[in-house]
Amino acid sequence: MSKENRTILVTSALPYANGPIHIGHLVEYIQTDIWVRFQKLQGHDCRYVCADDAHGTPIMLRARQQGITPEALIADSSREHQADFADFNIDFDNYHSTHSDENRMFSGLIFERNQAAGHIATRTITQAYDAQENMFLPDRFIKGECPKCGAADQYGDNCEVCGSTYSPIELKNAVSAISGTTPVEKETEHLFFKLTDFEDMLKQWTRAGHLQAEVANKVEEWFNDGLQEWGISRDAPYFGFEIPGHPGKYFYVWMDAPIGYMASFQHLCDRTAGLDFERYWNRDATTELYHFIGKDIINFHALFWPAMLSGADFRTPTAIFAHGFLTVDGQKMSKSRGTFIKARTYLDHLNPEYLRYYFAAKLGSGVDDIDLNLEDFVARVNSDLVGKVVNIASRCAGFINKRFEGRLADTCSEPGLYQDFVSAGNDIAADYENRDFGHAIRKIMALADRANQYIDANKPWVLAKQEGEEQTVQAVCSVGLNLFRVLMTYLQPVLPAMAAEVESFLNIPAMTWNAIEAPLTGHSINSFKPLMTRVEEEKIDAMLEDSKDSLGSTAAAAETAATAPQVEPIAETISFEDFAKLDLRIARITRAAHVEGADKLLQLTLDIGGESRNVFAGIKSAYTPESLQGKLTVMVANLAPRKMRFGLSEGMVLAAGPGGSDLFILHPDDGAQPGMRVK
Ligand code: MSP
Ligand code: ZN
Repeated sequence: MSKENRTILVTSALPYANGPIHIGHLVEYIQTDIWVRFQKLQGHDCRYVCADDAHGTPIMLRARQQGITPEALIADSSREHQADFADFNIDFDNYHSTHSDENRMFSGLIFERNQAAGHIATRTITQAYDAQENMFLPDRFIKGECPKCGAADQYGDNCEVCGSTYSPIELKNAVSAISGTTPVEKETEHLFFKLTDFEDMLKQWTRAGHLQAEVANKVEEWFNDGLQEWGISRDAPYFGFEIPGHPGKYFYVWMDAPIGYMASFQHLCDRTAGLDFERYWNRDATTELYHFIGKDIINFHALFWPAMLSGADFRTPTAIFAHGFLTVDGQKMSKSRGTFIKARTYLDHLNPEYLRYYFAAKLGSGVDDIDLNLEDFVARVNSDLVGKVVNIASRCAGFINKRFEGRLADTCSEPGLYQDFVSAGNDIAADYENRDFGHAIRKIMALADRANQYIDANKPWVLAKQEGEEQTVQAVCSVGLNLFRVLMTYLQPVLPAMAAEVESFLNIPAMTWNAIEAPLTGHSINSFKPLMTRVEEEKIDAMLEDSKDSLGSTAAAAETAATAPQVEPIAETISFEDFAKLDLRIARITRAAHVEGADKLLQLTLDIGGESRNVFAGIKSAYTPESLQGKLTVMVANLAPRKMRFGLSEGMVLAAGPGGSDLFILHPDDGAQPGMRVK
C-alpha cells in the first residue's frame, strides 16, 4: 500500500462525436475508470478528464446529411455519450469537447510556439479534389480499384484484399465517395509538423519507461522506417479551428484532438478552487500524467503528441497505456451477428457492473485483444459475483439482523484469518497499479473462496438451532461480514454501484483501502437487500436480437455512416437468375402484434392468398400494430424459414427508408390481391 501522496491526471481517448459508444469503446473507459477509482481509494489526488472529439470531415458530412449544423450534431452526441458513460458508472471529473474555447486557445498556442521554434514547414502538394463538391477528398472518401491486385471498391490508400498501400492518386477508376464523380488533382498549400526535428528526443523518450515494452518495439519499427513530416492542416470546407495566420486552412482533427486533454483539464481548473493548470502541464511539472488509449492510435500518442508538447515547452506524459481490441465470441464485432452492441442497447438489458467485472477479469497490462465470450460472461458473473461474493453476505446477514438486532460481535474471533485478508491487499494493490486487473480479480476470488469455506466449516445455520451457541453464531457471521467488507473494498473500483449499496448495508462511510485495517466490532449494520441478481441468458439473447439490423442493409448503412464514407456502395451485384428466384407476393396483414421482450420487432400474420405466414419484422419504430391491421404489403415468400428466439419467421416484408420512424412497408390497396406476384 503506497503511503506517499501522489498527484495524478488521467485521460481516456476522446470518442468521436459522430457515432454511439459501443462495448468496444467501453473496454477503454472501464479500464481507465477502474484505475482511477483505485487511485482515489488509495487516497491519492487523481483527476480523470475526457471530451468528445468533435472535429473532422466525417462529422461535417454527417451533419450535412442529417440537415443539421455540426454544432447541433456534436451537442446531441455529447449528451448521449455522457449519459452512456454515467450509466456505466464511468466517473469523469470533467467531460468537455474539442470544439471549445479552451481547445481553440491551446491549439493556437501549441501551434504558434512550435512555429516560432521552427518546427512548422509549408509545402505545396497535389491532392484529390471533388470538383462538384468543391472540396479536397480525405483518403477514405476516395474509392476505386486497387492498382496492385485490381480488387474493386477499395478505399483511399490501402487495399483490404491484397494489403498493399499506395497513394489515392494511383487508384484505378477512382470516384469520390461523396459525389460519385471522378476526382481531379489539384495543388494546395499545407502546413507540416517537422517530426524529424524530434527524432533524438523521441528515441530517448520512447525508451525511457514511458511505454509498454511491446509498444516501444512497435515505435522502434517506425523509427527504422524513417520519421516523416506530419500534415496538420486541411482545406475548407472543414469542421474545426481555422489556423491562426492561415485563413482558409484548418487544423487537422488529430492535431487538436490530444490538445483536448489539456482543454478539458483547464475547464476543470476553472471551476475547481486550488487546482492549478501549470502544476500539471509545465515543462518541469512533477505531477503524473497518464493517457489510456487503444492500440490503433499509438502513433498519435507516442510520437506526435510528446513531440508537439515538447516543441511548445510543455511537459510530456508520464506514461501511455495502450490496450487491445475487443472481440465478441472470438470474432470482430458484427452487425449481422448482433455483436455490434451499443452501450445503450447493453444497458437496456443488463446490469453495467456485470460488464465492468467481466472486462476487469480479462484485462491485463499488455496490448492483447480481449474477448467477450458470452457463455463465459454468464458463467463467470454468476459464479464469482453472485455465487461467491454476494453469497458471503447473504449467508451471514440474516442471522445478525434477526437475532442480534443488526449488531456485530464485540471482538473479532478470527484475527489471523482477518489479517490474511488485509495483508493480501498489498499484492492486489500492486496488480491494480500495474493494470493487471485479471490477476487482482483472481486473488480476490481466491479470498472469497476462503471466506465461504470458513462459513461452510462453521455452519451458522446448524449452530443457530443448538442451545447455547448464540454467541458463536454472532461471532461466525460477524467474521463473515468483515471478510465480505474487505473483499468489497478490493472490488470497489470495479463495482462502484454495488460497493455503494454495501456501504449503506454495512452502515459504513465511503470505503478506503486503509479503513479495512481494523475489523468492524460492536457495530450496527442495516438490513440486507439482495446486492446483485444472476445474469439471465434470455437477456443476452434479447440484447443480441436488438443489436441485429433486422432490416438488412438499410439500417446497417445508416449506422456505418458513422465511420465510413457517407455514400454506401451498392452491395455486390447478383445475376438475373438470382433475381428471378425471388418470389415476391402481395400479402394482407391479417394480424399485427407486439412481441414480448423485443424492442424492435412486430409479429405479423400475412395472408398470401389462402396461405398464412408468420413473420417477425423490425418495424416497431415506424408502425403500431393497429396501423397495420388489414393493410397490404409485399413479402419475400420463398425465403427459407428462420428460427428466432420468439418463434419461426417464414419470410420477410420489403421496407424502404433510412430506418427509425422513416420506414415504409405498405402497398397501396389498389385492387391488388393477396398472393399476386409482384415482379
Ligand atoms: N477520436 C479518436 C481519439 C482521439 S484521442 C486524442 C478515436 N476515437 S474512437 O471513438 O474511434 O475511439 C476511442 C477509443 O476507443 C480509442 O482509444 C480506441 O482505440 C478505442 N476503441 C474503439 N473501438 C474499440 C474496440 N473495438 N476495442 C477496444 N477499444 C476500442 O480514436
Ligand atoms: Zn489489392
